[in-house]
Amino acid sequence: MTQLAPPHGGELVSCQLDAAAAATARRAAAHLPCCTLDPRRLAELELIASGACSPLRGFLGRADHEAVQQSARLADGTPWPLPLSLPLDEATAAAAADAPGLALCDPEGALLALLELADLWRDAAGQWWAGGPLQVIEPPHRYAFNHLRFTPAELRQRLARQGWRRIAAVLPEATVHRAGREAIADALRRCEANLLLLPLAGEADPNDHHHFTRVRCHEHLLADFPEATSALCLLPLGGLGNGPRALLWQAIVARNHGATHLLHPPPAEPELLGRPLADWLAEIGVEGVPLRTMGWSATHSRFVPLADHHDAATLDDAELHHRLEHDLPLPDWFTLPAIEAELRAAHPPRHRQGFTIFLTGLSGAGKSTIAKALWFKLRALGGRDVTLLDGDIVRRHLSSELGFSRAHRDLNIQRIAFVASEITRHGGIAICAPIAPYTASRDQARHMISAVGGFIEVHVDTPLAVCEARDRKGLYARARAGQIANFTGISDPYEPPRQPEVRIDTSRTSANEAANQILLKLESLGYLR
Ligand code: ADX
Repeated sequence: MTQLAPPHGGELVSCQLDAAAAATARRAAAHLPCCTLDPRRLAELELIASGACSPLRGFLGRADHEAVQQSARLADGTPWPLPLSLPLDEATAAAAADAPGLALCDPEGALLALLELADLWRDAAGQWWAGGPLQVIEPPHRYAFNHLRFTPAELRQRLARQGWRRIAAVLPEATVHRAGREAIADALRRCEANLLLLPLAGEADPNDHHHFTRVRCHEHLLADFPEATSALCLLPLGGLGNGPRALLWQAIVARNHGATHLLHPPPAEPELLGRPLADWLAEIGVEGVPLRTMGWSATHSRFVPLADHHDAATLDDAELHHRLEHDLPLPDWFTLPAIEAELRAAHPPRHRQGFTIFLTGLSGAGKSTIAKALWFKLRALGGRDVTLLDGDIVRRHLSSELGFSRAHRDLNIQRIAFVASEITRHGGIAICAPIAPYTASRDQARHMISAVGGFIEVHVDTPLAVCEARDRKGLYARARAGQIANFTGISDPYEPPRQPEVRIDTSRTSANEAANQILLKLESLGYLR
């Protein structure tokens, strides 16, 4: 193992306790205040615990934190760019004031580590911070892609066994397409090194389903390089950007995993604190190799550096998403076939996405009748399954305990939106038909659902006088007589949608015609074809 470059600071740190020490720490934790870590801090804990952030042995104390902010160095002068201390909310800071340490837990309440409280302080912005050595009882639980996760010690052992010496790390966050792949291959040719892919795979936020797609794409990228000369290890962090401090951090983490070179995109700034980035990298013993941005040259039938060939073709994210959304072909040169398949599965065209039809309007406006007509027409079309979440059905099955105060109506719409967003996310159709009198909660539903598929708001804009004249359930009469409080349109507000996708006045349109109008809108938006 000796031939691999030593880690930053000379020694690979491990904060992991052995079984006996962990049992003792577990007992000690019972007397300490608990701090629940968010996904970002869990990732930091994991990186510090495994030695990926060597020479850090815990979250930074105040002197180190301030030195890092001012000079990108720890108090002892070792280069270190990020002030990784543990932020605390007011309540946890108050509980920690007289405690010797903190018990660090994951969101499910599992005890992961003890933080010895060397420092507890409040910065000029009023934020509380804690810092001190970590004793890790168990690293954060990871359930997916564990075959791609290695501690620096494990990875170094593997690399050493393969006889690697010159190792070029690259830490991509986004999916790498063929231009990026060629930029990496081009940089590797210049430094004659093995490839170590260390994707910044971020935390698997349960709502970020593209995380899984991205990781699978990283695997496909690896498979496109020769097996004997390339390796992949996921890093649990992400979102640090492309600034000089982030690049210095990348270099240190790469070094701790055994890398000698760092392949990096042009940094957002070429200097850190007035000193060229290359000098910083040299100080920590990593050679920076800039990745040249590539474009496709049809004339040469290969990728060429954009700097030398301004007319070479590229395809940006906006164009990519447009093509995926509209089921248009991608140029052959753009990405690897396996990656294109992943992208097409993750971003189906509109006619294969789920969607929600959200009908809103006064009681008696005709929402339920239109919803029913629409339900029949969509079922008859075949394809996606359709669920009807009519106002009265929801009030019976999901919201039976709720009344008609604003708070209860908002909660009712939140529940409808949650169910509809799940249906939509799974590629189905949800038809919702509540009164939904408040713009804010309708907008919330739109926000939540349009993140996972289509959202079509339909204002069933039947005049109050017409609804009241129909009065099918006799509720308007009772509301006028004062027997029902907070009745929408009579003694409670209805805020009309400003820009619904469809507006229908049922005093002039039959339910059959209204449902057809909605179908035509779905067609023009691309959800039906
Ligand atoms: S919402 O405001 O939360 O969207 P929702 O659509 O679920 O309302 O329920 C509306 C139905 O409840 C009406 O069609 C009517 O039958 C009944 N209802 C009973 N009390 C009221 C009330 N105070 N205001 C409106 N609708 C009421």
